[in-house]
Amino acid sequence: MRFAKLALSSLAVLGIAAFGVSAFGQQPATPPAEQPAPVVTPAPDGAVPAAPATPDATAPVEPAPVAAPVPAPAVAHAPAADHGEEHAAGGDHHELTPKGGWKHDGAFGTFDVNAMQRGFKVYKQICSTCHGMKLLSFRNLGDVGGPFYDPAYPNPNDNPVVKKIASEFMVPKIDPDSGAIVPMPGIPADPFPSPYANAIAAAVGNGGAVPPDLSVIVKARNGGAGYVYSLLQGYVAPPQGLVVNAGQHYNAYFHGDTLSQWVGKDPRNKPPGGFLAMTPPLQQFDIRLQRDCVEGAHGGTSCDPNTFDDGTPTTIEQQAHDVAVFLAWASDPKSEARKQLGAAVIPFLFLLAILVFLSYRRIWRNVEH
Ligand code: HEC
Repeated sequence: MRFAKLALSSLAVLGIAAFGVSAFGQQPATPPAEQPAPVVTPAPDGAVPAAPATPDATAPVEPAPVAAPVPAPAVAHAPAADHGEEHAAGGDHHELTPKGGWKHDGAFGTFDVNAMQRGFKVYKQICSTCHGMKLLSFRNLGDVGGPFYDPAYPNPNDNPVVKKIASEFMVPKIDPDSGAIVPMPGIPADPFPSPYANAIAAAVGNGGAVPPDLSVIVKARNGGAGYVYSLLQGYVAPPQGLVVNAGQHYNAYFHGDTLSQWVGKDPRNKPPGGFLAMTPPLQQFDIRLQRDCVEGAHGGTSCDPNTFDDGTPTTIEQQAHDVAVFLAWASDPKSEARKQLGAAVIPFLFLLAILVFLSYRRIWRNVEH
């Protein structure tokens, strides 16, 4: 009997472990859907404060931590306007959750292909001017589970969409004639290029801060996709009593600390979030994301320029959602395959457990024990 118990319990442990690996090796659980109480009212005119708020003349003003003067970013960004009421700032660790949650969460969650495709467009048109994604190659976009997977092209290197995307990026390559490194149109096998030659160039271009590589940013930050989603919508007007230095942007969801620049009396009342060097990257109805308004099915005079290619409106919330989904996929492109394997392994382990138990009964049938 002891043998049976041992066999069964070890199988159970095995089963639970396998389920755990398949189900919980994914995104960290998203926080509950309810939104935190608003602390700051978004300014209708956008989020970039022109001058630090100094309500008290005797208040200490911290020296600017940004070493270099702030040059204009690579692309002119209008401040993100109108974040909508539901996106008011929240507490430090209560990220926003999109309506209906994240489709890719949970043991059987799968990535929303349309959202990934739109999110890729947001990355390409906006984020890629400052952020690289060096752990990913263009061909990964056409892998099984990727945003541009096409069953007609099991080898993503042959996928025409992937080829076209790759050719639209300029990748530094060695010129076979001169040996010099020159930018050339990419091929599916190339990794995504970084927009700056090195970290020094990146810092000089961004007021002293280096834009992090986005390949695994969703894994690297607490809150995962929810953090990216919230951060991109978190540029609200700084509350009264918060000193914002030149080159800094207040963001209610940034994992930072506002205490050193809070001139309010009670440190417990310091606003949530922190300051970062990234200018608000998203714009409502960004012209760079509009669909191609050429004559055709959705083109010509009936074409709405405020939509993605699939007709979804290019609101800030939608862009933030879609790019977060895309980056969640990018940071774990094999998660769907892993979940599918888990779903196949668990019934197998269950059947095996029954089989082992029946064999035990049969083997020990005539033995006194
Ligand atoms: C104009 C350049 C620029 C653009 C465009 C830009 N970023 Fe950034 N981003 C930065 C810089 C600079 C930092 C580093 C900020 C800091 O550490 O103060 C940063 C930081 C980040 C971080 C890390 C925040 C953290 O917790 O450390 C994330 C995530 C991010 N960006 C996402 C995006 C996404 C997504 C887009 C596209 C929608 C985007 N960025 C577009 C410059 C940019």
